[in-house]
Amino acid sequence: MKIAIGNDHTGVELKKIITEFLEEKGHEVINYGTDSTEKSEYPIYGQKVAKAIMAKEAECGVLICGTGIGISLAANKVKGIRCAVCSDPFSAKMAKEHNNAQIIAFGARVVGRELAKMIVEEWLEHDFLGGRHQERVDMIMAMEDE
Ligand code: RB5
Repeated sequence: MKIAIGNDHTGVELKKIITEFLEEKGHEVINYGTDSTEKSEYPIYGQKVAKAIMAKEAECGVLICGTGIGISLAANKVKGIRCAVCSDPFSAKMAKEHNNAQIIAFGARVVGRELAKMIVEEWLEHDFLGGRHQERVDMIMAMEDE
């Protein structure tokens, strides 16, 4: 699977760890984040990954900032995107099964490296359940046009 990854200066190290983890699983990881620990603006990277997914440059994405919050807020401003901030594996599974989130976000200042791997794995290895969840996702996406 082609996976877009993006991060600000707080997520450089965790981005490398998650990239390696995904590549070991056979995924192709495309880097839209910064590789510098100089202060940077998280909205830029949230938007880049979200736009890459809408442009079908990647199937899904991972975003990392200090908390995961700011970068997810930016990603969710791109029409068609559902980005979920998850700090635990259960929420990550639900983000796919119930919300069909194309992007998962977490905080490099919140989760450790092993927990971050578990979060990504739970989200990647589960499928959207559709049915009543599709109707609810459709409701959210329709709100973009209101
Ligand atoms: C940067 O200090 C920090 O604000 C950013 O990484 C993120 O946590 C924002 O939500």
